[in-house]
Amino acid sequence: MPGGFLIQMAGHAGAGKTTVAHELAERTGAAVLDLDTIKSALLDAGLDWDHSSRGSYAAIYALVEDLLSIDGAGVIVDSPSYWPEIGARLTDAAARHGARHLFVECVADEAVRARRLRRRPHRRSQVTGPGSNPPDAPPAMDELHRRSIHRPAGTTRIVVRTDGPSELRLVLDAVGFSAVGGLSRQLPGTGIPGFPPRRSSTMDVIDHLTEEHRKVEGLLAQLAESDPGRERQELLDDLESSLSTHMAVEERFVYPVVVDVMGEEPEQEAENEHGLARDGLRQMRDLVDEPGFGAAVEMVTAGISHHVHEEEHEVFPALRERASDRVAALGDPEELERRVRDVEGSGGDGGPTKEELYEQAKDADVEGRSSMTKAELAEALDES
Ligand SMILES: [Fe+2]
Ligand SMILES: [Fe+2]
Repeated sequence: MPGGFLIQMAGHAGAGKTTVAHELAERTGAAVLDLDTIKSALLDAGLDWDHSSRGSYAAIYALVEDLLSIDGAGVIVDSPSYWPEIGARLTDAAARHGARHLFVECVADEAVRARRLRRRPHRRSQVTGPGSNPPDAPPAMDELHRRSIHRPAGTTRIVVRTDGPSELRLVLDAVGFSAVGGLSRQLPGTGIPGFPPRRSSTMDVIDHLTEEHRKVEGLLAQLAESDPGRERQELLDDLESSLSTHMAVEERFVYPVVVDVMGEEPEQEAENEHGLARDGLRQMRDLVDEPGFGAAVEMVTAGISHHVHEEEHEVFPALRERASDRVAALGDPEELERRVRDVEGSGGDGGPTKEELYEQAKDADVEGRSSMTKAELAEALDES
């Protein structure tokens, strides 16, 4: 029947299929049939691995039939697409119901997938890490992550990279929905860069900054529990990137409004606290493999918690009450982040320090440089 579509997700564990499927569902109103949801429920109900596998695919095919019989319905089947039969069954169902069939394959670098797998909460049917099968799987079963993905012949294949800038536009265009930007959903329980947190179109910069506070607190809590090694390094990379971008957005776009609404003192205090947080980040980086790391995390956590409390209990409420129009005028928080990242490079460390930027501004004769924040200096230099 015309207007319907069937999206067949594909990709290895940790490639971001479910995240992309949910994002597509949110934007198109399609129903998601998630293999892991059904299979884990069947395992919970007492079925063994083999019966749960067969049962979950049987349920998916039956539900696809039901849903595609609804006029204009969109259905997303979320599975790795390891079996040729899946593509064959779905191609057949789509053809019979006159629905467009798209094959959307999610890909991400192996290291990124491994990192996601280590951090995400696992369902019973899911692999727990690279090379480790789900606990319910028969011991002799071949490793799930070594299987290959099967694309049905003649189906449009769209590849969505989830470990870097990527676009859902192609998928949305192909199913007849207008393009509305890139990926915006965060993998649950992770802070993977290149896959920023989701936000609804009604989320303004204050909602977003508040959400980011929770993310930073989560990363600090994980760092406090971490052991020296690669995972700690990666968590620290995430923290540096998130926090640097967060502080730059506040300093460049939000704190100028704070000065107007609350005066210079609270703004100066906030900037000083950002300075302390940056010092703390540097110290964490210096001590990343040392016994003093825990103490450095504790110090940053205490500083951030004080700062965040003030922002959320004093600064943000004041902005909401007295400058809601200016907050709204700041627009899409993702765009603000993009702008500070453009100025600051990756948004993490490694760029010039404020002092270096100040020296450059002096050389370039930038007016008002002595009262500028780091982000403002960078922007003024960018424009000069
Ligand atoms: Fe702040
Ligand atoms: Fe903040």
